[in-house]
Amino acid sequence: MIEVGVWRGDRAIQFLSLARNLTWYAGFDLFEEMDSETFASEKMGACHPQSYEHVKQRLDTASNGNCRIDLVQGSTHSTLPAFALKHAGTFDFIYLDGGHSLETIANDWNCSKQLMSDKGLVVFDDYYLNDTTRGAKPLIDALLSDKAYRVRFFPVVEDIIDDLQITMVTVSRASENRNYSGQREKSASR
Ligand SMILES: C[S@@+](CC[C@H](N)C(=O)[O-])C[C@H]1O[C@@H](n2cnc3c(N)ncnc32)[C@H](O)[C@@H]1O
Repeated sequence: MIEVGVWRGDRAIQFLSLARNLTWYAGFDLFEEMDSETFASEKMGACHPQSYEHVKQRLDTASNGNCRIDLVQGSTHSTLPAFALKHAGTFDFIYLDGGHSLETIANDWNCSKQLMSDKGLVVFDDYYLNDTTRGAKPLIDALLSDKAYRVRFFPVVEDIIDDLQITMVTVSRASENRNYSGQREKSASR
């Protein structure tokens, strides 16, 4: 799996402890390369920068050698495209929770499209129902009419930060024709 936007590693530790058969976690973040200008343009709210070494230690401890952990430091505008070329089609689960600017979400999705396996799921953490100047809503709304992808909204909508109404969204390849357990559905054409 890939997590874009690792921050302190809290969610990564949940993935590592709850996921079955997780063999490779690759996390992308600026860590201490985050500067005040980027912090403002990526609309980071309360996510103050963490040190790469500290987070790496936390995740290595949590994985206890059971899962490969790679942390890639830098802006995803420079790190993800090359990684996507090298590992196209490899990842079953990609969790996008990095920068919140429209440009960064577009970059992270363009790379995720390459990185996701045929049965892969990409989860966008930040779909804001009441704000289209940041977050995933403009991109996801455009994907709704793209027949190559299937878009599903999480049922819970929470109004938690900054008067934002937030939900998460899952995107998978439409051609895979999957049911909710992620298994291939039987259909007349198969
Ligand atoms: C919301 S936090 C991630 C929280 C984490 N996923 C969790 O659930 O615990 C967003 C993270 O994205 C990182 N980030 C923001 N813009 C970025 C960019 N352009 N490239 C790489 N990382 C970025 C920030 O440094 C921050 O740690």
